[in-house]
Amino acid sequence: MIKLIPISRLAVGMFVHDLNCDWIEHNFIRNHFLINNEKTLQRVLALNIKEIYIDVSKGGDVAEAPTQAEAERQIDVQIEAIAHNPPDIQLKPVTLGEEKKRAKKLHAEANRIVHGMMNDVRLGKQIEIEQIEPVVERIVNSIFQQQDALLPLARLKNHDEYTFQHSVSVCALMTSFARALDLSREVIREIAIGALLHDTGKATIPDALLNKPGKLTDAEFDQMKSHVVQSKIILEATPGISPVALAVAAQHHERFDGTGYPNKLKGEDISLYGQMGAIVDVYDAITSNRCYHKGMPPTEALRKLLEWSKFHFKPELVQVFIRTLGIYPTGSLVRLESGRLAIVEEQHADQLVQPTVNVIFHTKGYYLTPERVDLRRSQDRIVGHEDFEQWEIDPEKWVVAGA
Ligand SMILES: [Fe+2]
Repeated sequence: MIKLIPISRLAVGMFVHDLNCDWIEHNFIRNHFLINNEKTLQRVLALNIKEIYIDVSKGGDVAEAPTQAEAERQIDVQIEAIAHNPPDIQLKPVTLGEEKKRAKKLHAEANRIVHGMMNDVRLGKQIEIEQIEPVVERIVNSIFQQQDALLPLARLKNHDEYTFQHSVSVCALMTSFARALDLSREVIREIAIGALLHDTGKATIPDALLNKPGKLTDAEFDQMKSHVVQSKIILEATPGISPVALAVAAQHHERFDGTGYPNKLKGEDISLYGQMGAIVDVYDAITSNRCYHKGMPPTEALRKLLEWSKFHFKPELVQVFIRTLGIYPTGSLVRLESGRLAIVEEQHADQLVQPTVNVIFHTKGYYLTPERVDLRRSQDRIVGHEDFEQWEIDPEKWVVAGA
């Protein structure tokens, strides 16, 4: 009978059945042999193996040790559990602080690349997908690594750069959304490419119209809407573009109830990628400050999406999107029960209403020494979201400087 024993129990007189160390280089000629003296025992111990198989029919025994069959059954049970219940582990090879530094550089570079690409399109040049692939790859990596680094940075925008910054933000958000939907890495990469390019058609629209603060005339509105068809035309002429990327761009203004444009597609006639694009595009637009409206706090925007999902979006998808970002998305300002204001720094998938926050301000009207608090381990709790502007707190200062 073969048994598995801890190496500490190995003794002279036992018969080794399997050294159980295929990965270690050793100079035992055979795997099966008798430990006939202390010298052989010491040679085996020197291999630094943890467990070893012995044949108790040919030598000494360790009574309580499991048989090889029992040991294998234990592995079967573990395999079974993994198959039905994959372990939920979050690999965090880098800290949030490290990823924030990387994300800050990446954000600036991604904006620069989109800016350059839009200028090229404006000049009638073809998009070269190879030129944007490396930055898309880095955005996808950053989101997979630690999405709390790039997402809050991407939400902050300035007026002049809005179109480029919106593209980068939608790319980061779509990656995060796609990851939550468990799509394959290849599809996620294609979604991210489509997201970064979704508004390319805006390169055909004059800046004066793109940034017009007042109400648009019907003609202007039609021209504005034409950017979707333009995006499609431009991307169809782009070598190497995938159908997934094309769907994100071509369908991001379609609505689930058929009220969108350009094709008034309805329900599942809109691809998953188009449906995702619509949700993310609206979220990013309504949370950003524009020349004609003030961005709303992310928590409020998510509530709005849920409300609109009665008609315009698929409710289940909006629910996943909310879970992806958290109830109080990273980078937003929240009020704690203690009367303090804090910026959300890190989500915890298991406790969406108890993120880690950076406490910075007291509602009595003064700044506090910043303190990082994991609300899962605190008596304090979030009682609601707040508006940066109302408290005259500069989000740039805290979100960007914190990076
Ligand atoms: Fe758009």
